Amino acid sequence: MKLKEEIERRRTFAIVSHPDAGKTTLTEKFLLFGGAINVAGAVKSNKIKKTATSDFMEIEKQRGISVATSVMGFEYGGKKINILDTPGHQDFAEDTFRTLTAADSVIIVIDAAKGVEVQTRKLMNVCRMRKTPVIVFINKLDRPALDPFELLDEIENELEIHVHPLSWPVSMGPDFRGVYNRFEQKFRSFSSTNKQIIGELVEFNDLEDPEFKKHIAPHSERLQEELELIGGVYPEFNREDYLAGRIAPLFFGSALNNFGVQDVLDCFIQIAPSPGAIQTEQRKVEPIEEKFSGFVFKIHANMDPNHRDRIAFIKIVSGKFERNKTYIHVRSGRKMKFSSPTSFMAEKKSVIDEACPGDIVGVHDTGTFKIGDAVTEGEKLQFQGMPSFSPEMFRYVENNDPMKFKQLAKGLEQLMDEGVAQLFVSVANGRKIIGTVGALQFDVIQYRLEHEYSAKCRYEQLPMHKACWIETDNTEKLKDFRLRKYQQLATDKEGREVYMAESPYALQMARDNFPEITFHFTSEF
Ligand code: G4P
Repeated sequence: MKLKEEIERRRTFAIVSHPDAGKTTLTEKFLLFGGAINVAGAVKSNKIKKTATSDFMEIEKQRGISVATSVMGFEYGGKKINILDTPGHQDFAEDTFRTLTAADSVIIVIDAAKGVEVQTRKLMNVCRMRKTPVIVFINKLDRPALDPFELLDEIENELEIHVHPLSWPVSMGPDFRGVYNRFEQKFRSFSSTNKQIIGELVEFNDLEDPEFKKHIAPHSERLQEELELIGGVYPEFNREDYLAGRIAPLFFGSALNNFGVQDVLDCFIQIAPSPGAIQTEQRKVEPIEEKFSGFVFKIHANMDPNHRDRIAFIKIVSGKFERNKTYIHVRSGRKMKFSSPTSFMAEKKSVIDEACPGDIVGVHDTGTFKIGDAVTEGEKLQFQGMPSFSPEMFRYVENNDPMKFKQLAKGLEQLMDEGVAQLFVSVANGRKIIGTVGALQFDVIQYRLEHEYSAKCRYEQLPMHKACWIETDNTEKLKDFRLRKYQQLATDKEGREVYMAESPYALQMARDNFPEITFHFTSEF
């Protein structure tokens, strides 16, 4: 197949959700449709167990397994679909944010009873920032849920995106009857007695069909009314709006019951984008370009402390990636050859000879790669859109074994390159500050430093609210700001200046006092 056709049939996306909304279940159902797995529960067993919320050792074990599910590729409807897995644990949200940089589109799963939750909001912020096309799947309709109109309002208001319901539920909870697919104008009937069977769906094509009316009685009139209302409120679905990230098509269903899942998948393969052009500092790179380029979006460390090797995940941006061909690691200028690049098909990992834009390859890394690094045939490209996000927890990190100073520095550097957490250095006292999204990361870092680098660290609490990257044209004001906020200034790993706000109030005060300065929660703006 020609490169152009290969690119056009690629769909690389991530399923994201607030923990427990049903991301893993939906992923698994997709894989079942693609024939990539045979048994329900196959993906689930790879998930970080919820009982282990504070048990990071357990998470370390699970991390090893999760390499296999980092990317799940399968064929469906003539398309090559790559699902990028994101960690189920919210302390690893930063990993999820980064994975989104490699996704060409996203499906957000929302629990119909809970509506928009904290993590959903954060994930959507990232999608909005990157203008990633989003499809929303409202899950768990088999349970008592919020009113669908209320849900739509909540999503529009809280996620700041217009939605377009392409399916509509008839009742919910114990009385859930099914969903009307507005995209295909078909009704799928939900049978609560035969929950796990995908094929047992009764379809009606016509809302006026007396059999159909009888089937959904007493909800027939209500459905008609609601559909009319939706028709009036939500304008025609326009794919361009979806692709531009302005409108999110929305589906209702129940992932556990495999209900409404195929509707999303069928629509997804029709409307979701294939890999597009990507902006670099130098120029826009088109997937169809002959020369290979790609970037590292994830680094996975080996679990075995005796082998400090890692797998770097490269998203292919342009051209064909080939095994054993010489490429350039742009940041170091070093030549590289990958003798056993792997691709991922659901649970299976296999060595590949070539891969196309949209695909993800895993390559062996001995510590060269950093998140965001470019690999090319020689051109000096630097990809944009790989921002760091402000951590939410901060601690000073100190060496706890004077003999192991070097090991600690090296360990910290490598863990930060992997993206486990972010390192800042206080301008006032030169002390190192680690910033994370969740408390668990501190334990992970301490554990890994000890086991992989023989270094010991201790922490000191640092009650900070956010790290803000600052931007201004006004050098006078910046000077003044630096003087007044000297104690709260730090630099990030790239040497950029960051203001550590102690509290939301302090940040507000800084904003009020220095309106000439913009405070960003991400490192790219
Ligand atoms: P996550 O990856 O987003 O964290 O969620 P996950 O798929 O693990 O789903 C969280 C829980 O919600 C699971 O139950 C799952 O079975 C359930 N669930 C998912 N989809 C539906 C649905 O459509 N309807 C209903 N009623 N439940 C759903 P659990 O008890 O936490 O886990 P398990 O014991 O079933 O594995």
